[in-house]
Parts: sequence; structure tokens; C-alpha cells
Amino acid sequence: MITVETIRERHSVREYDGEPLAQVEFDALGAVVEECARESGLDIQLVGDNPEVFNMIARFSLIRGCRTHVAFVVDDAKASADEAIGYWGQKIVLAAQDMGLNTCWCALCSRKKSRAVVAPGKKVRLVIAVGHGKTHGFSRKTKSAEALSAVECANTPAWFAVAMEAAQLAPTAMNNQNFKITLLRDGKTVRIEAPQSGLNMIDKGIVRRNFEIAANEAGADWCWEREL
Ligand SMILES: Cc1cc2nc3c(=O)[nH]c(=O)nc-3n(C[C@H](O)[C@H](O)[C@H](O)COP(=O)(O)O)c2cc1C
Repeated sequence: MITVETIRERHSVREYDGEPLAQVEFDALGAVVEECARESGLDIQLVGDNPEVFNMIARFSLIRGCRTHVAFVVDDAKASADEAIGYWGQKIVLAAQDMGLNTCWCALCSRKKSRAVVAPGKKVRLVIAVGHGKTHGFSRKTKSAEALSAVECANTPAWFAVAMEAAQLAPTAMNNQNFKITLLRDGKTVRIEAPQSGLNMIDKGIVRRNFEIAANEAGADWCWEREL
């Protein structure tokens, strides 16, 4: 079960053992990927035995020893799927963590070397590396909850602090943490904002997923502000 503890344990891992996932792991993660694809309507594929996707110029790779990835296939011009990619991708990341696997969101990869099924006119937006890490990764710096949030009601409920911790722990591209979360005056409604540019909307979806898991686990009476 995905909990705040899962969120606390997850770190990006860039060095893997070079082995494929065991068949049982591949099948279990494949089932999660299929479920997320069905629920979201996104084209998400689990791809095995494809280390080339992490090879950059002259075989340089930021991610080493990883053979498996999750690919997000989108219409060429569709950055509009970004927030959903973040939201559903983070569910897959946390499910993988729960299975004892390690992950890293990876925008800097050789998308065209992915063996995902990509129809003409479509492309791989980004991938998530999945495997057995040489380590489980490391804690990293985060902006403070104060810098990332605002509270408009008189008293900050306890659940908001826990949910903000989960938001702080969310992976974001280059650890940018370019988002702002506001608890509105009623003490229940939560606004999340991020710039539309670059990978920020993917990050926003990831943060949304982490925040939601923690707020719900804390039994909070809360909801997202409706976005236009
Ligand atoms: C959308 C996105 C793209 C990313 N792309 C890369 C990448 O290309 N290479 C890489 O090494 N890390 C990449 N990362 C991982 C981030 O650098 C990492 O999440 C961040 O530094 C925070 O560290 P943590 O995940 O260990 O908490 C990406 C993360 C996100 C969310």
C-alpha cells in the first residue's frame, strides 16, 4: 500500500545493477502501468531490456545499469498531457518503491531509442527508469514549506503540514520545486500553482499526487480548488 512512508523512502536512483527485473516484478509493475493507463487514458508502456534509452551522446549516460523503463507516449504537440503524466507517473513510481524497486524520472534520455510502441505522429515525452539500484538513493535539499506554501485561514490544520512534507519530497526536474500550494480561507480547499513552461506541469502533477496521498492518509476533510 502506498503511504507517506513510501514517499519518505523514495529517492532518485541513477546507478542500477545492470540486471532486468525478475519476471514476477515485471508482471506486477506491468499490471500497475496498465491500470494507470486505463484510468487516465494516457498511453503508458512498461518496456524491458532496453538500456539504450539511457545512452546519450557517445554512450554517456546519467542513468547507469538500468534496463527497464516506463514510457509516456503522447501526440507530438501535446504538452497538455504533462500534468496527467506527472500525476499518474508518480503513482507508478511509488508502486515500484513499494515493490522494493528504485526509480528515476528521466527527461534527458534518447527517446527515439525507446522500444515503446510509438505510432507515426506520436513521440515519447519522457521515461521513468526502473530497476534494482546499487543504493536506495539519498535525501536532498528542499525548499522550506513556508517558501512553497501559503495559508489563508486562521489556524493551520495539522494535516496540512504532513501533506506539505509529502509535497516537499516530490521529485521535480532539476529539483526546481517550482510550485506553490495555498490553503484557502475555508481551511479545506487547496490551490496548486506552477508555471506552464518546461517540465513544470509534469512536476505539478507529481506534487499533486504526493500531497493527495498524505492529506488522505491523515484523514483530512479537504479538496482541490477547481481549475478552469
Ligand atoms: C520531470 C522530471 C524530469 C527529470 N529528469 C531527470 C533527468 O533527465 N536526469 C536525472 O538524472 N534526473 C532527472 N530527474 C530527477 C530529479 O533530478 C530529482 O527528482 C530531483 O533532483 C529531486 O531528487 P529526488 O528525486 O531524489 O527527491 C527528473 C525529475 C523529474 C520530476
